[in-house]
Amino acid sequence: MYSIQVKPLTSKAIPVESDIDGLNPASLRQALSPWSPSDATRPGSDIPKVLYLVPNGGNPTGAGLTLDRKKEIYKIAQDYNLIIMEDDPYFYLQFTKVISLKSCFTINLIS
Ligand SMILES: Cc1ncc(COP(=O)(O)O)c(C=O)c1O
Repeated sequence: MYSIQVKPLTSKAIPVESDIDGLNPASLRQALSPWSPSDATRPGSDIPKVLYLVPNGGNPTGAGLTLDRKKEIYKIAQDYNLIIMEDDPYFYLQFTKVISLKSCFTINLIS
């Protein structure tokens, strides 16, 4: 994904660790620690704008986010005004019922 679609745009990718429960929110906070949430509204800021996320069946580990992690990640994304770019091709291949991010949260488009 990074080499084909992001690199040509000269965007910078910052890796975030994941484990058996998927992307680790503590690692995401650590990755964002050089910035403060107020940087998200500062013109010209180089604060990250997009969070690329594979919520289910991460390749190659097969890890999937727990509901608690989805909530925590969503909160961080709200704090830092990150757009979540969800790449979820394996959602329908799961054997247990999981709740998608879309059905977890209502997004406030008008403030
Ligand atoms: C999460 C995820 N998104 C996208 C892709 C790319 O799929 P495609 O090669 O069909 O574009 C893969 C391929 O493994 C994947 O695991």
